[in-house]
Amino acid sequence: MTAIPMEVADPFGLLHPERRKDPYSGYARMLREAPVHFCEPWGAWLVSRYADVNAGFRDLRLLSARTGQFSAGMSEEVRKMMEPLARNLSSWTLFLDAPSHTRLRGLISKAFTPRMMEALRPRIQALVGELLDAARGKERMEIISELANPLPVIVIGELLGLPREDRYRLKRWSDQLAGLIGTGRPTQEQVTAGLNAILEFEAYFRTLIAQRRTAPTNDLLSALVHAEEKGNLLSEQELLSTCTMLLFGGHETTTNLIGNGLLALLRHPEQWELLCASPELLPDAVEEFLRYDPPVQFTNREAAVDMEIGGQAIRKGERVMLMMAAANRDPAHFKDPDRLDVRREELRHMTLGMGPHYCLGAALGRIEAQETFAALMRRFPRLKLEPGATLDWVDSAGFRGLLSLPVVLGAEAR
Ligand code: HEM
Repeated sequence: MTAIPMEVADPFGLLHPERRKDPYSGYARMLREAPVHFCEPWGAWLVSRYADVNAGFRDLRLLSARTGQFSAGMSEEVRKMMEPLARNLSSWTLFLDAPSHTRLRGLISKAFTPRMMEALRPRIQALVGELLDAARGKERMEIISELANPLPVIVIGELLGLPREDRYRLKRWSDQLAGLIGTGRPTQEQVTAGLNAILEFEAYFRTLIAQRRTAPTNDLLSALVHAEEKGNLLSEQELLSTCTMLLFGGHETTTNLIGNGLLALLRHPEQWELLCASPELLPDAVEEFLRYDPPVQFTNREAAVDMEIGGQAIRKGERVMLMMAAANRDPAHFKDPDRLDVRREELRHMTLGMGPHYCLGAALGRIEAQETFAALMRRFPRLKLEPGATLDWVDSAGFRGLLSLPVVLGAEAR
């Protein structure tokens, strides 16, 4: 069999490593030339228009129960080895459909409310302050490793009530899982690393859950262990899966919201100055960062029946990728979509999803980003990108973030 040339199989270059620097020109062409098309290397339909992505999120014929996609093409023997991974992922709300999704999300939402997250705001302010204090007196700072990475790790760890010294172990497991979940089609090595991460995550949480059952403490883990509705509790596997999912969901996404948003601002100094002068615009600015350069570029579904999207016939069992990052740049929905504009009026981006799976941690991610930008602007209003800095991106098509973001701080405001 002759291999299909890459320029035919992947006409918009999504899999090309160079595309990490700028996936957006490829999305713009996709929106113009083939808004719904089959991508051979990923074995999936890519859906890019705002209207189609929005409808796709709400369409119950597009299933979230899709963990089989991770083990597609594996031998029976490998599949057996991967069972613990499949078991853990199968109880993430992210990979469930109604009615199991509705029940589990309802129980988690009891413990993880926007009000509870808002109550964390002062603690998040203090943590950002501590991380910035560590840069006091320095000329330069590396934003990803010194601020954007540690902040979400500490916040989700404290929220769950995990010992502080464990946070880097948890981060490593979470990164290993990202390799599995953030790619169109994971390699054997990524699946194996994901399996090891799950085994370690579960062993770690099993002990803590047992402790919280007998001696509840004032944290999210205890709240989850004791979350109950009509005599219905989370099972042991659901607890393990939910802890894994929250830790995972709470890490890289927020890191990349801070990194991508700051880079966008530093490349548009007039927007930085506008925000420094009018900090009340910050909540809207964070929405614009989410729209402009999303930490999560797409998500997957599986067609439950034969159906049609944007004039294309999709068959039962086929994979459908909802390309939020492309939808956010759809000129049919957003005026001048390639422009960063913190005063933009239409802010309903697709970055946090839509419909039944709308991001559970949205409020938390927003608060962390708002407080980080507020503190950076207040303390370092002359912050600049380090001249000549090379910007390398995480090697993933699905998760978009910088490996490092070196800045020159400028004089600290008193
Ligand atoms: C700030 C940046 C974030 C982005 C861009 C983001 C993005 C998303 C997206 C796109 C979805 C929907 C996926 C789908 O429908 O297939 C989602 C769901 C979810 N997110 Fe986030 N997220 C962020 C922050 C967080 C945080 C901080 C947490 C937790 C601490 C979190 C936990 C979750 C969970 C648990 C779900 C699954 C909800 C469900 O299945 O019902 N996320 N997120």
